[in-house]
Amino acid sequence: MKYRSSQEIRTMFLDYFKSKNHMVEPGAPLVPIDDETLLWINSGVAALKKYFDGSVKPANPRITNVQKSIRTNDIENVGYTARHHTFFEMLGNFSIGDYFKKEAIEFAYEFLFSSEWMGLDTQNMYVSVHTDDEEAYRIWTEDIGVSPSRILKTDDNFWQIGNGPCGPNSEIFYDRGPSFDPENIGERLFFDELENDRYVEIWNIVFSQFDGVEGGDIKTFKELPQKNIDTGMGFERLVSLIQDGETNFDTDLFMPIIKKIEGLTDQSYLDNKTAYRVIADHIRTLVFALNDGAMFSNEGRGYVLRRILRRAVRFGRVLNIEGAFLYNLVDDVIAIMVDFYDNLNDRPEDIKKLILREEERFAKTLVDGEKLLLDEITKTQGGQISGDVAFKLYDTYGFPIELTIEIAQEKEMDVDLEGFEL
Ligand code: ALA
Repeated sequence: MKYRSSQEIRTMFLDYFKSKNHMVEPGAPLVPIDDETLLWINSGVAALKKYFDGSVKPANPRITNVQKSIRTNDIENVGYTARHHTFFEMLGNFSIGDYFKKEAIEFAYEFLFSSEWMGLDTQNMYVSVHTDDEEAYRIWTEDIGVSPSRILKTDDNFWQIGNGPCGPNSEIFYDRGPSFDPENIGERLFFDELENDRYVEIWNIVFSQFDGVEGGDIKTFKELPQKNIDTGMGFERLVSLIQDGETNFDTDLFMPIIKKIEGLTDQSYLDNKTAYRVIADHIRTLVFALNDGAMFSNEGRGYVLRRILRRAVRFGRVLNIEGAFLYNLVDDVIAIMVDFYDNLNDRPEDIKKLILREEERFAKTLVDGEKLLLDEITKTQGGQISGDVAFKLYDTYGFPIELTIEIAQEKEMDVDLEGFEL
């Protein structure tokens, strides 16, 4: 396996699918256009709904894209794990009534494992399929030649969001080896679907073949006349494999930001990985979201951004960084990403100003708020942070409730949420 830069990997992905007659759909902005159902574009397919629901017919039924995405449902894990992010890129190939299972599987396999492309080692490959998806199982075992001993059949492999097109999915995993398995548990981590860093999911292929009803029994769903393919490859994960980074953060996508942070603090990356990773993750989200037109505010999307910024600022204090600092990282994010996202050059100074202003706003209250919270934690050792204190932190000191909960949890305490809501 050859080292490749992140930019090279993106380009190769698009080139591969162009060589298979796909058209390249430009990535959509993070703020959804004409879609009230989503706060953020959160996957490749989210930006292509118009083709999947039939409202627009694509010029070519074979499509590929690189889609920037935001998901914040797991934000409290970001920084603590190897692979959680609030901003990430999903690379995908899609078929709108054109090819189906066989080609979708063959494409993913060839791109990942052929020495002409990514050249990953098939010895480390594992696959999951839906329990009832005999066809996908047969393609993997007979056409591709994967040993049945490497295939997990599970009912979890079914993709459905509300009513409408849905179907079984198949995922490709990569075994990073025993050094990522400190308790030496081995394959059981994969087959029992245990949380682990050893068997990494890198590609999800959704076979969109049924017309589903939310909450319905999938055995009763009708086959769709037009079958589609929706795939998503976790870009940061693939980059970490190709660059042999211990985590997604130890790659050329994040390390220049981490190096810059090292210059702002006396606390080392080695001893403070969580804080560094939170900041490196969150600054990417802020830069991309603001550049795509989102703004800080007290509700909806703007509140999410405010919360992300405040979480990053607080981890800056964990590193003893005094004063505003996030705005200083904007140029680093742009330098890493601009070769692919050239609109990042449009208004870097505006983005820096927006971030600086928001950091300054929070800086005024952060220190006093933290003091109040830590006093409360000392006073109520082992108990609960009262709703009144949580509300005061929120109302007077600008602490998003999620931030208060996170700080309390670090001290193994929780927050009286009912009291907070009153
Ligand atoms: N839409 C699928 C996903 O998000 C591919 O994983």
